[in-house]
Amino acid sequence: MSFSSNTFLQALNPKLSEILNPRAEKALQEGSTDEIIVLDSATTVYEGERIPTIQDISLRVKKGEILFIIGPNGAGKTTLLETICGILPLREGSVEVFGLSTKKYGHQIRKRIGYVIQEMDFDPSEPFLVKDVVLIGRIGLIGVGKRVTKRDWEIVRASLEAVGMEAFWGRPIGKLSAGQQQKVMIASALAGEPEVLLLDEPFANLDINARHDIYQLLLKLNREAGVTILCVSHNLGIPPETDKVILMQNGRIIMNSEREKALTSPLYKAFIELSQAEKGVYNAAKTAQEK
Ligand SMILES: Nc1ncnc2c1ncn2[C@@H]1O[C@H](COP(=O)(O)OP(=O)(O)OP(=O)(O)O)[C@@H](O)[C@H]1O
Ligand SMILES: [Mg+2]
Repeated sequence: MSFSSNTFLQALNPKLSEILNPRAEKALQEGSTDEIIVLDSATTVYEGERIPTIQDISLRVKKGEILFIIGPNGAGKTTLLETICGILPLREGSVEVFGLSTKKYGHQIRKRIGYVIQEMDFDPSEPFLVKDVVLIGRIGLIGVGKRVTKRDWEIVRASLEAVGMEAFWGRPIGKLSAGQQQKVMIASALAGEPEVLLLDEPFANLDINARHDIYQLLLKLNREAGVTILCVSHNLGIPPETDKVILMQNGRIIMNSEREKALTSPLYKAFIELSQAEKGVYNAAKTAQEK
């Protein structure tokens, strides 16, 4: 499926069809490759570190796929997302997104990606209002220093409505709960009309209903607007619509399988058992502490 901005906005919030500019129904996707993200033996190192954080990662993601990335703490999941965005320099290998190398075209690539970072914790005295935080997600499209149009604000509003946070429009972001902040950060990523969404634990602070609603919204954007989704998550299981499951450990991909195959694989089972065992140890320690 090719990506079109108008289809994205209609999937985001049907009300937007009424306010859409007659922007040409032109596929933003350039180039003919069906593979939207291609990593070849990518190795990245954080500044000042000697040991690579992710090593020899090869991964191909097709347009419109949904990937779930799992793995223990410190496995390199966040680092993988940062590498795809071109935020971290490559020591070896190559990363191409939209057919463009992250080394050369990081800025152009990031304009077309919505990245929801893990645990955005705003200080209670943070002066930014919710609407401004969401607008920042659109800055790549607007251009720094350019005039913000009425349409930009309409899309900010539509993004907030899509995550059920429109009532918080004028509230300082720091005064919101963790879950509410999380929803605003998702709205901010959506306001940039992304072709690819990179979501790092987007459900972590959400209650069960919110998890369901946000997941349904993501699914709608995927199904109706062809948005490719890479999601790091431990809170949702592996939903049935998932195309591929990536399991990471010690900076490497140790499993990359279709969902059905992944769920029955010994590696996945071992990971789940380990997570449950860790949870058991954690709960036992907590109970002991409370006594
Ligand atoms: N800014 C940094 N500088 C140096 N090392 C870092 C930095 N950020 C992360 N690391 C290291 O890189 C490794 C991978 O971290 P990463 O954040 O990618 O893991 P993760 O799989 O996302 O873990 P979690 O489930 O806890 O979020 C860890 O060993 C971590 O200590
Ligand atoms: Mg992480």
